[in-house]
Amino acid sequence: MYNIRTIHLSEVDSTNKYAKNLIPSTSLPVLIYADGQTAGRGRLGRTFVSNIGKGIYMSILFKPTFDLSLINKITAYTSTIVSRVIDETASVNTQIKWVNDIYLNNKKVCGILTESVIKNNECYVIVGIGINVLKQEFSDELKNIVTTLEDETNIKYDNKTIIDMIVKKFFDNIGQIVNKEYIKDYKNKSCVIGKNVEVKLFDKIINGIAVDIDEDGELVVSAEDTIYKLYSGEITKLSICDE
Ligand code: BTN
Repeated sequence: MYNIRTIHLSEVDSTNKYAKNLIPSTSLPVLIYADGQTAGRGRLGRTFVSNIGKGIYMSILFKPTFDLSLINKITAYTSTIVSRVIDETASVNTQIKWVNDIYLNNKKVCGILTESVIKNNECYVIVGIGINVLKQEFSDELKNIVTTLEDETNIKYDNKTIIDMIVKKFFDNIGQIVNKEYIKDYKNKSCVIGKNVEVKLFDKIINGIAVDIDEDGELVVSAEDTIYKLYSGEITKLSICDE
């Protein structure tokens, strides 16, 4: 098993928030995982449903040793790692909706929230991963757009086995952020290339076609007479995430 300091909580507001409160810490990296979250957070201030005993709610806190200009690649890198682990575990073929959502059979099964903190001139990164593992009740608003591993495969999975696989793969392959090797996988698993997209970029809305993920892992969107290369943002509309 990969040797990393591990904190297991039965319930917490948010493992990302808990990780933030450990900074500055001398003993890194650290894995925090919880059986449930009372205030699980997603990107753009959204909530991540974190029903107790039903999913994986984990955060990895570490200090990057690579160039800090690469920090904005961590979410995409993590998406490929988690997507591969889910595929191997459940014998499925997940896809990545740029930049941080993992889809299984056209429904979201996992979300990733990366946060960075600068303290005393040191940079810390928190990678938060939420996976819907077991069947559970979702609100009417969510039930047609999210799913669980159990719903899709009729198998119950052991959270800790999946968590250990993610942590090991994450650190074993982290050099790929520098040598860009993860991008091939990231592109192959993307469900947005060739689709019409509406992308929210800060306060701007871009409508166009996602034509590529380039050699830097940026989403290339062709909109009227402009080509955008985006490393961050939110796809607010997409023709469905299918093959
Ligand atoms: C998203 O869907 O926008 C990202 C969801 C990220 C959820 C995970 S669960 C563990 C960690 N703690 C949080 O509060 N959020 C992340």
